[in-house]
Parts: sequence; C-alpha cells; structure tokens
Amino acid sequence: MAKPFPNTMDFAGWNAPSRIECDIYDLVTEGTVPEEINGSWYRSIPDPQYSPMLGDDTFLSGDGMVSLFRFENGHVDFKMRYIKTERWKAERAARRSLYGKYRNPFTDDPSVQGKPRNVNNTTPIFHAGKLLALKEDSHAMELDPHTLETIGEWDYDGKLKSQTMTAHTRLAPDSGDLYFFGYEAGGLVTKDVAFCVADKKGNLVREEWFEAPYVALMHDFAVTREHVIFPVFPITADLNRMKAGGHHWVFEQDKESFVGILPRDAHVKHMRWFRGPARSSFHFMNAYSEGNRVHMYFGVSKVPPFPFMQEASGIHLRPDQVRIGFVRWTFDLSKPGDTWEETIIGPSGDMPRTAIKDQMSDFDIGYYQTFDPNNGPKNGPPPIAGPVGAGFNTIVRMQVKTGKYTTLGLGPTVTVQEHIHIPSGKPGHEGYLAFVCDMHDQQLSEVAIVEAEHIEKGPIARIKVPFRLRVQVHGNWVPAEEL
Ligand SMILES: [Fe+2]
Repeated sequence: MAKPFPNTMDFAGWNAPSRIECDIYDLVTEGTVPEEINGSWYRSIPDPQYSPMLGDDTFLSGDGMVSLFRFENGHVDFKMRYIKTERWKAERAARRSLYGKYRNPFTDDPSVQGKPRNVNNTTPIFHAGKLLALKEDSHAMELDPHTLETIGEWDYDGKLKSQTMTAHTRLAPDSGDLYFFGYEAGGLVTKDVAFCVADKKGNLVREEWFEAPYVALMHDFAVTREHVIFPVFPITADLNRMKAGGHHWVFEQDKESFVGILPRDAHVKHMRWFRGPARSSFHFMNAYSEGNRVHMYFGVSKVPPFPFMQEASGIHLRPDQVRIGFVRWTFDLSKPGDTWEETIIGPSGDMPRTAIKDQMSDFDIGYYQTFDPNNGPKNGPPPIAGPVGAGFNTIVRMQVKTGKYTTLGLGPTVTVQEHIHIPSGKPGHEGYLAFVCDMHDQQLSEVAIVEAEHIEKGPIARIKVPFRLRVQVHGNWVPAEEL
C-alpha cells in the first residue's frame, strides 16, 4: 500500500497531497459570473503520487497536475488530470517514489538512473494552438487543451537544442511571438543559457546561447519592445555537492547579483552585464524601455523565501525579515558604469501580473500579492499554504507610476492563490482578476472573481469547489476564441 506522506510543512495541512483526477460539471456559484468571461483557466500544481523516497522533500518536487476551469455563459466546469510523464508512469508501475532529492539525479533509485525526471509542474501556457506544461529543468509537455490528456514532450519538432525551457515565457502582444529561455541548457550544472523565440505559428525562429556569470537558478526574465533582461541571482549549483547527495541549490549571500541586458534584435554577444549585491526574486511584473533607460518592476528580497533553500544555505529568517519591497530597477545604457538605480514603490510581495496588452511597454497598472499581518489572525500563526510557508492573504492593485495602491483581503483564515487577469471586451474596462481562495476553516476552496479596477469591493462571484485545491504554482487564461 502507499506509504503515508511526512508530517512536514510541504506535505501536511493545506499542503497535503490531493492526487485527485476528476470532472465536475457546472460548479455551484454565488453571485454572477459575467457572461463575457468565456474561456479556459489552466492551473499547474505539484501533487506527488507517492511519499518522498528519502523521507522528505520540497513541495516543488511533486508530479505535475493540471486543472482547468472552463467558463462558458456564466457557467463553470472543472477538470483535473495528472501529466503522464515517464517519471509518473515509472512510479505508477512501481507503486512508490523512485526519484530522490529535488533536482538531484544522483539520489535516484538505480532502476531509473539516467531516465527523464521531469514533472512539468510549474506553468501552463497556450501558444500557437498548443497547451504546454512547463518547468525550468526540462522540455515542455504538450497536453490536449480540452481533455488535458498528455500528448507528449514538445521540443519544437526537434529544433530546440537547449535541454531546458523555463516556466516563465513572455508573449509579445503585438506580434504574438513567444520569448523564452533555458538555463543549464547544455546539461546539469552548466553555465549555458539559451535565448529563444518562437513565432506566432509556433516555429522556433531564434536560439542563441551565452554563458551566465555562474550557474544560477534563473526562474524568470523580462522583455521590452527593445531589450531583453536576464537577472542572475546567487542561488547556485555545484556538481560535487550534488554527487555527494546534497542540494541542487544553495544561496550564496556573499556573491554578487548580475543583470544582463541585450538589445532585443542583437546577437547575444552584445549582452551588457550590470552587477550589484546578492538579491533574490523569482518573478518580474513587467519591463519597458524609454530610450536608453530600461525599467523593470518586481518584488525583491535579500534572500530566497523558500525554507528548503534557506536551510541548505544555513539561513533562518522569517519572510518579513527577507523582503525589501516592490521596486523599480532602472538601467541607464547611455552611461558607462555597471550599477542600477533602485526605487522602492510599495510593500513587498510576489505573483505579479499585468494585462497581457501592457506587457513589454510603458504601463501603470499591475497586480501582485503580499502578506499583510492586519489581514491575518489576531492570535496564532498565519495559515500555511504553498511552498514558502505562510500563504499570501492580500491582493494589491498597484499604480506603479505613483505608488498608489488598493488592496483586498478576505479574512483571517483565508489565503489567496496566484491570481490571473481576464481581459474585458468593454471599452475602458480593466478586466477581472480570478483566484482560488483557500478557506482554511472549512478545508474547502472557492474561486473569487473581482473587478480588476475595484478589487477593494470584493468578489462579484464565488465559485464553490467541493474539496481542497492544492496551491497553484502558476496559471494562465486562454480566451475561448483562441481555443
Ligand atoms: Fe514562477
């Protein structure tokens, strides 16, 4: 029989594995889902089939599960399926975990040595008619966008030379081109980074390799209409450490951060590197170029918030001790120097998002999440949800030019999962945010829909899910006309 999961933060309480594949027709809804919301919201979740082989592991190791909220004329249907990777099939057949430590193949069971260990549990994207499940350590897996059944690995018809494709891609709103990259592109613990572009038909039209200053966890990047920005923060890898059974990633506080900036149409040999103190960030809201100045907006911290990374690095800090804030970094390409200018705009946070139409160009409105103690429980610790520990409990609508913002919290026992933005067809309408609420007192989930311009007014619709949904890593909205 399947062994119990460990009673640790990553596998207990709200983070307990779910392992549910299901279909639910017409979810019960309070309020009204606007009829103009027609399309599919795909969510990626790590959801391990079996208890970790080595006793404990991180949330981020779990098998990829993809769920789908299908919105049609005010009705919402739900579907959830595992991604049937080679790893999933091997463990299914063995009825136990065969793969060891997070992203360390030297710790695997001999029966799967050298076999693919991808789980594709991070981001679902839809581009050129394909639904792709991504994770930064491997190629994409293609899924059927209607049934969620697994089709197979997608490597751009064999053209993609990089062994990896990151989970954070950037869609150019004007051309429909997909910008992406892969790090450890030449294999485990290589400094190789591949910068890639797929055109709107899904043809790989560009792949250029360069070397990062050191092997680093490069989770996201940013693209403007004129430049590409590659931040490199010192979460580093070491082959000998991994061979000895250690962690893939350790944060090196004494190393510098680097940011590479490349004119978007220039060869990667024209990359210019900027440098600064050790920092950590996993997601960038948006960036744009203003002549020779490049601006990037994001939440930044002094060290990574993930407990498993902190432990491996000998760091023990609470999330509120590591976060600096929501910032703008400006790089002036007209000046010699190699530093940037930092402006703190708002409270710290993560899970940033803008309307797709605003990506890559000058913008004012963005949305992200923060932990606000005033929205948490008056007594006792905040509810745990997701890989960092305390779940975010507040959504922020930020006007990045002025720093003015409004917020929404839904009560001391509710944490919020990553929101998606759904555009509106009405002129001047800012669209909607949709997000899963973790109702900790009931151990149930519901989806909240809010007007993006007026998040402070609270949900206009609440869609009831009759069980607990594990925390989405990332999700994306696909309008019905694209499907
Ligand atoms: Fe991410």
